[in-house]
Amino acid sequence: MLVSSNYLLKDAKANHYAFPHFNYWDSNSIRAEIAAAESLNLPVILAWAEKHSPEIGVEDALALGKYFGSKAKVPVVLHLDHGTSVDLVKWGIENGFTSVMIDASDKSFEKNTEITKDVAEFAHKRGVVVEAEIGHVGTNSSADDSTYTEVDAAVNFAQRTGVDSLAVSIGTSHGVYKQGTPKLNFDRLQELRNAVDIPLVLHGGSSSGDDNLSKVAEDGITKVNIYTDLANASLNATKGEYGSETEMALAQRKAIQELAEHYYQVFGTDKYQYRVQN
Ligand code: 13P
Ligand code: ZN
Repeated sequence: MLVSSNYLLKDAKANHYAFPHFNYWDSNSIRAEIAAAESLNLPVILAWAEKHSPEIGVEDALALGKYFGSKAKVPVVLHLDHGTSVDLVKWGIENGFTSVMIDASDKSFEKNTEITKDVAEFAHKRGVVVEAEIGHVGTNSSADDSTYTEVDAAVNFAQRTGVDSLAVSIGTSHGVYKQGTPKLNFDRLQELRNAVDIPLVLHGGSSSGDDNLSKVAEDGITKVNIYTDLANASLNATKGEYGSETEMALAQRKAIQELAEHYYQVFGTDKYQYRVQN
């Protein structure tokens, strides 16, 4: 069934664990991710981002998400990830995503606040939750003091926008890391967690180090976004010897599912309180 992420992230915040957010880019990936969630009987957050457009457009991704999400045996959040166009995000809100991210993190603080507030008001009238970001999580950027999310800015932003969750920058970046496992700013995370009321989320989860990710989940991050590792697991699985395309597709799905299940363990998601026994 399709659900909002609101109660999930609040439960994660209260009980010191995180949900995985898995991007999907085809029917193989979404089926593998749902299979992982079902095998553990835990909810899953499935996301399409604009960057997946060359592979699958938003309408097809939404249709896939609704189809597989509705028949899943676990709660499924259908999330529009990294929406940089307000029009696209509003379209997503009106057409069935249960959660959206408006990403104006490359804009000035004031502009980001203005855009996010507008989207949050629009979404809340329609029962959809909104994530936004301050302090930009880039691609292969080496984080330094200037790129970490500032605590006062985060508090101010959350209050003024009415947004439901906030993506923060504490040292991760999107994609693989050229210089090995990143060093995360756990002190900043503690400060943010203590000061900001709404759930915090982390982008760029792939290859960030399992110990790092377990610690952020324990310390206040309620959702960790994972894409690149899943895409690479699928790609690596194509390199085996197979007798047919079907065999290869099944091997890709298995690889994605195993990695997805692994991330559930890393994030301590089995602390989720509202599990329904099937
Ligand atoms: P990775 O590709 O680094 O896992 O980042 C995923 C992400 O942040 C999606 O929004
Ligand atoms: Zn991201």
